[in-house]
Amino acid sequence: MSKIPAPIDVTQLPEWKALQDHYDRLQAEGISLKDWFAADPDRVAKLSFDTSDLHFDLSKNLITDETVKLLADLGRAVGLEERRAAMYRGDHINTTEDRAVLHTALRRPASEAGTLIVDGQDTVADVNEVLDKMYAFAERVRSGEWKGVTGKAIENVVSIGIGGSDLGPVMVYEGLRPYLDGPAVRFVSNIDPNDVAEKVKGLDPETTLVIVVSKTFTTLETITNAKMARWWLLDALRKAGAIDDSAEKEAEAIAKHFVAVSTNLKLVADFGIDPENAFGFWSWVGGRYSVDSAVGLALILAFGKDVFQDFLKGFYDMDRTFETEPLEENVVALMGLINVWYVNFFKAESHAVLPYVQYLHRFAAYLQQLTMESNGKQVRWDGSPVTTETGEIFWGEAGTNGQHAFYQLIHQGTRMIPADFIGFVNSANPIQCEGADVHELFLGNFLAQTKALAFGKTADEVRAEGTPEEIVPARVFTGNRPTTSIFGVSLTPHALGELIALYEHITFVEGTVWGLDSYDQWGVELGKQLAKQITPAFHDDEALAAQDASTKALIEFYRANRA
Ligand code: F6P
Repeated sequence: MSKIPAPIDVTQLPEWKALQDHYDRLQAEGISLKDWFAADPDRVAKLSFDTSDLHFDLSKNLITDETVKLLADLGRAVGLEERRAAMYRGDHINTTEDRAVLHTALRRPASEAGTLIVDGQDTVADVNEVLDKMYAFAERVRSGEWKGVTGKAIENVVSIGIGGSDLGPVMVYEGLRPYLDGPAVRFVSNIDPNDVAEKVKGLDPETTLVIVVSKTFTTLETITNAKMARWWLLDALRKAGAIDDSAEKEAEAIAKHFVAVSTNLKLVADFGIDPENAFGFWSWVGGRYSVDSAVGLALILAFGKDVFQDFLKGFYDMDRTFETEPLEENVVALMGLINVWYVNFFKAESHAVLPYVQYLHRFAAYLQQLTMESNGKQVRWDGSPVTTETGEIFWGEAGTNGQHAFYQLIHQGTRMIPADFIGFVNSANPIQCEGADVHELFLGNFLAQTKALAFGKTADEVRAEGTPEEIVPARVFTGNRPTTSIFGVSLTPHALGELIALYEHITFVEGTVWGLDSYDQWGVELGKQLAKQITPAFHDDEALAAQDASTKALIEFYRANRA
């Protein structure tokens, strides 16, 4: 394992200065996508890229040939290629937790066993051993061989987890719904008791399997929800006369209806879940990078082994693209570097991700954890303060709903909001309605929005439509609002794997330029600690007296109004 080099202050590099000069020059000359397209008939071809399932058009970004070259130079100057190699080979690039970062090992095929030994562990062999255990378990459940405590097959799954132990599985479950041919899955994450209460409504405990997913197995929300689910299951089985009060029968019910996914198999056993029914992963898989680990167990139950294998292959193929393409032609690296260009030079603060596919309606929520928990940092990986803005606020909504909500601000607001539009050529539901191909109506909107954002509408064009002069300014679109178009063939498991790996690596690229440890998340800890301290104050006067004035007043309001 190589020593992790100190992060570089990117703002002190000549390559950064060159980008600043370039930015100033472009601003002085005037940025005009319309002119750039007119001047260079090859612009689209030069800025288009293909991976196995996805086609990328970067031409509507505020970049020129020179920008691409300067961004690639910057990537080389910060050691992007070396750090990428360090990540892939298992160096402890997560410095604050002294851990390797090996989500890329999760998708390496069994044939690569023995090629990635990290800290004495044959990572690929271990990954594939757990996968085989998951596939075997899922097959037993899906075929009906696995029976609940009363001898009935499993029809529904409740998956309990939060953050990385929830957002990825939910997003993919929704994303691949057309492939659903196993038990339906409901996901519980929030500690708000309404969540678990609503999710178990209507379920028959005799045919329900609960998966408790928690990397640490200590997360308050998940353990509390798991306890509530355990109570619900045992209580309902008892009331139905399916089990008696004996400890043996309860243990049997838990063994048949609860399984776990965790790195902490000891705590899983303490909870009462049979270690035989626990699926492990490792400290080198970050929660938000774990959907393709055992954390994806619910997905194998829902979709089966073949779908999950295609999904993993999609990740693997994108890993290879990122690993092997030279920076100037590496769409993954370029998308990350272009984000840096917008954040640090154009001062963009947020980034919209707009999937024109309803099945990806949870994609933005998933990306929020991936990107913001990774790069929302104020110090670099050696603890020194950053010298640039870091992170981006990721947000979005499945199209066209967003068009009727917030697109106004993207088109005509005062802030620049770079946006990624994601669409697929083929719909899982190719419906014709009164002679119209509805999918084409949908995709027409995708293309119309990116066109309007790029090329806008001038005052003269507005006037030519007969608009009264006093309304002309309100109807002008400045254009030059950057977008990336990602157009896939179909939203297959493979394409979704590619898409997720793409954003994982974009996040890595940005973090590397900013010198961040993108794999820790200390910023979530203080709130967790304080919640433990504050909660007793709802009913304990001594704890209440110890609170600050604002917290105290809010708890007094609670006490006065609690029904
Ligand atoms: O609160 C943040 C966090 O630690 C995430 O990073 C993680 O994905 C989530 O909590 C859940 O953690 P666990 O899987 O250990 O329950």
